[in-house]
Amino acid sequence: MHLHHAVADHWAFLGHDGEISSTAPLVRAIGSLVLVAFRSHGRLVVAKDDCPHQGASFAGSRIVDECLVCPFHGWTFDQEGCYVQGFRGNMPEPVRQTLRLERYPARSRDGRIWVMPTPTSKFPPDTLIPAIFSWYAAACQWRVSITVAI
Ligand code: FES
Repeated sequence: MHLHHAVADHWAFLGHDGEISSTAPLVRAIGSLVLVAFRSHGRLVVAKDDCPHQGASFAGSRIVDECLVCPFHGWTFDQEGCYVQGFRGNMPEPVRQTLRLERYPARSRDGRIWVMPTPTSKFPPDTLIPAIFSWYAAACQWRVSITVAI
């Protein structure tokens, strides 16, 4: 199967750019998948709404110093979805590397945020995503999924 056929018709509408502020993320569901979206250093980050510490939701969380701060115990995550620090300070690098948000490929276009509901770790390399997204935008009608605000 051609790569485009495998992935290109699954971009789902998550929300509008204006729903993400510089101080607060957007938390929204696409079907049963609940996602958190935020901007860090100008980059759009979309990840599963599931804190790697104890699985809390990021609903009601804040963005501080370009990092997403979990509202439960204060762990923070950067634009790569990597753990930065927690309430007991920094962790050894090998441990820190395992504490990641599960990110999803996402793009902003014409004020709308689109996400591929396949984790980035199971998606083609980041370098291919812009080409896939452009192909989809040019060749297809956007298919808008029903989303539920929480
Ligand atoms: S559940 Fe997120 S920091 Fe504890």
